[in-house]
Parts: sequence; structure tokens; C-alpha cells
Amino acid sequence: MDYHEALAKLGIGSAHPGGFSSTRRALREAGIRPGQRVLEVGCGTGRTACELAIRYQACVTALDLRPSMLEKANQRANENGAQIEFKRVIGKRLPVLDASFDFVIVESVTVFNSIARMLSEYARVLVPGGYVLDTEMCAAATLPTEVKRAFATTYGATAVPTMSEWKDLFHQAGFADTRIVHSGSVQSGIGQEEEPDLWGLSHSETTGKEVWSIIEENQRVMSQYAHWLQYATFKAMR
Ligand SMILES: C[S@@+](CC[C@H](N)C(=O)[O-])C[C@H]1O[C@@H](n2cnc3c(N)ncnc32)[C@H](O)[C@@H]1O
Repeated sequence: MDYHEALAKLGIGSAHPGGFSSTRRALREAGIRPGQRVLEVGCGTGRTACELAIRYQACVTALDLRPSMLEKANQRANENGAQIEFKRVIGKRLPVLDASFDFVIVESVTVFNSIARMLSEYARVLVPGGYVLDTEMCAAATLPTEVKRAFATTYGATAVPTMSEWKDLFHQAGFADTRIVHSGSVQSGIGQEEEPDLWGLSHSETTGKEVWSIIEENQRVMSQYAHWLQYATFKAMR
């Protein structure tokens, strides 16, 4: 079991730096109108997807690699009366058509994958003039080998770009006008929510020792290396 599987078992929602308050802020500034087509990549337990469908009345498709996450997200959507189409990602290509979305929303997903490939997939599925909003970890400076190794082993993040390297990567993937909507310390928001995600707790599976030892290892790595990390929400136009 890895860190992401442990998150899935615990049903942790808003598992991204900045937490749900940064999601709300980014969505308020995004300018999403009712009926617009929004793709969420890596929806986890579906908190953001529900917000998009209910508060913004967007036409939402939500993707995840993990069936256990999709199951929890689907359950959350049903309990909240949110209309969302869920699809599982299998392989490298997102299971949606070219130029079929006005917005792509991503929160703490891209950095755990091949970044260039994910960004080019976001560009492929957006209409010209569409936007990606992506909240990701960023290195505060070029990371020493020891820190890189810790992030790769604990999170499977083999490369953590700095904010300016992220901007270059968006540019190389065909995005124009990449800007940072907001940024902060990587630990901000997580566990400090004004509105904690109690849904996740009440829907978590019975968890064994292994899950808790993975969560503890995450806390140990974070307390040792958090000063090397920041996060930013990037907004880029296709
Ligand atoms: C750290 S969690 C964040 C979940 C959610 N965005 C949130 O903020 O709560 C990362 C999520 O992305 C999913 N994921 C990772 N790589 C993915 C990919 N290539 N396509 C779709 N989902 C992916 C994982 O299964 C997991 O649910």
C-alpha cells in the first residue's frame, strides 16, 4: 500500500495543499458559468466535483485512477444530489475527447505523474480559450538529492518543479498566459479547515495498522522537509 492508497482508505477529502478554502477561492476567481463543461482530473473523494456541480451548476465529468476513490466520490455525489459523470482513468490517455471542456480542474495530482504528459493531456481536452486550474506542490528551491529521494519514496513524486519551472512546463505544453492565482506554505489548509470534511471520516473503511503507519511516515517526512515545499494554484489558458 502507498500513501495514495492510504488516503483512499481513509476517504480524506480536499487532500491538497491549501485545503478546501483554497479550492473555494480559486473557483470563485475562475469565472465558471452554469452549464459550462468542467473536467476534474484526480477527483479523489469528490468534494470539489460536488462543489462544481452544486454551487456552480457546471456540467461535471470527474476522473480518477482508483476505483475506491471513484466509489466514494460517487457515493458523496449521490448523497448530495450532485449530477456528475465519473470515469476511471486507465493508462496514459484521459478517457475524454479532444477539445471537449471549458475548464480542467486539478488538485495535487499532476506532480505524482509524468508532468509533461499530464499537461499535454489537459491541453488536448480543452477548447481553445479554455482554462486549466491546477494546484500543485512546488519546490522552494532546487531540491537536494536527499529531499528528492524522500518525496519520491513517500509520495511517488519523482520531480517537484519550482514555481517558475511549473510555468515553463505549462508553456511547453501549449498554454499561454500562465499565472499564479495564489500560493502558500505546503502545509497550509490541511487539517486546519473552517469546514472539515467529516463526510470522509464517516465513510472511511475499517483501517489496519498499515494505513496509520503510512500516514505517520507522511507526517514525519513533512515535518522534516516541509520548508522545502510550497504550493501554487496555476491558471493557464489553452
Ligand atoms: C493527493 S490525491 C488528491 C485528490 C483530490 N484532488 C483532492 O484534492 O482531495 C491524488 C488523487 O489523484 C488520483 N490520480 C493520480 N494520478 C492520476 C491520473 N493520472 N489520472 C487520474 N487520477 C489520478 C489519485 O488516485 C488520487 O485520488
